[in-house]
Amino acid sequence: MSATLRIGVIGYGYWGPNLVRNFAAGPRTKVTAIAEQSAHRRQVAASQFPYIKIVDDAAALIADPEVDAVAIATPIFTHFDLAKRALEHGKHVLVEKPLTRAVAEAEELTKLAAAKKLALMVDHTFVYTGAVRKIRDLVQSGELGRILYFDSVRINLGLFQPDFNVIWDLAPHDLTIMDFVLSQTVGAHAKWVSAVGASHYGRHENLAYLTVGFEDSLIAHVHVNWVAPVKTRRTIIAGDKKMVVWDDTSPVEPVKVYEAGVDVQHMDKDTAYALNVQYRSGDVNSPKLDGKEALSVMAQTFAAACLDGAPSPSDASVGVRIVRMLEAAQQSLERQGARITL
Ligand SMILES: NC(=O)c1ccc[n+]([C@@H]2O[C@H](COP(=O)([O-])OP(=O)(O)OC[C@H]3O[C@@H](n4cnc5c(N)ncnc54)[C@H](O)[C@@H]3O)[C@@H](O)[C@H]2O)c1
Repeated sequence: MSATLRIGVIGYGYWGPNLVRNFAAGPRTKVTAIAEQSAHRRQVAASQFPYIKIVDDAAALIADPEVDAVAIATPIFTHFDLAKRALEHGKHVLVEKPLTRAVAEAEELTKLAAAKKLALMVDHTFVYTGAVRKIRDLVQSGELGRILYFDSVRINLGLFQPDFNVIWDLAPHDLTIMDFVLSQTVGAHAKWVSAVGASHYGRHENLAYLTVGFEDSLIAHVHVNWVAPVKTRRTIIAGDKKMVVWDDTSPVEPVKVYEAGVDVQHMDKDTAYALNVQYRSGDVNSPKLDGKEALSVMAQTFAAACLDGAPSPSDASVGVRIVRMLEAAQQSLERQGARITL
């Protein structure tokens, strides 16, 4: 294989152009082909990247000997078939989030990639942002202390998706951030999921509240909503020493570390009611963040996974974990919020 990874991108709708731009920028990747069903989108691609081969048929791109790796930026329900076909043709695969619609599909792809010794990675874009990597460092170094909870809100007037609800559209982001800073960093693994939601306008829920339980008293909550008057992208990770608030809509100082919390002394060991609660409210710091575009970091991580066999924080095993949580959330939604064990 050449030292530069030759990528074929399937799907040039809303997100595909971002992948093409970042893979084309290199340094270890280049785009040799784009497959897109829509004639209009093919025209847009041709005007933006006149030197890239553009085809209408994904099968032709997958079979192209000048393609080493396939990036799939098509709707969720197409991911499994396209990824399977690409792996069967000996191509490394990057799939847009979420990996698949079902755990069984995600596991089948993972096994196939392992058997063929090919890289299978998911574009969980947020784990490659400077903000999330900084939060990971804060959690990992122990600066926040024992982690108490993770709370994430992702709401705005969102684009209604015809084929799936708001959980499958937006919650992959929050769940992958949670998985990265808790499971991959301090080994805290999700035990159960519960979800409630509402569909005010049609078949699919446009609003949902997910709760994820861990061991001990660590708990996570995710609120996703397509019908909110303001755009909120806010995550709180609370430790017993310090707490982090990340406002992803803020152009300045999006991550703030609060020296805030409570110190509790049990006055009477026999009863939980007699507590002496001391409040701490100290300095607020804004750490400096790496400003590199997340997708560019993701693209070069994928190149390293394919060319060097390097590990990635959004490999197939993470992809399977996220789909397992989404599937459990969907089951819970259909059972009025019942706890589903993972
Ligand atoms: N990582 C992120 O932050 C992020 C953001 C947005 C979307 N996404 C993901 O990207 C994927 C695509 O979402 P989108 O919003 O770009 O959708 P979209 O509908 O705007 O674009 C999909 C494109 O794929 C084309 N297409 C579908 N099937 C095809 C096939 N078999 N062969 C060739 N072309 C085909 C369609 O014609 C369309 O142009 C989804 O999985 C979504 O979850 C990820």
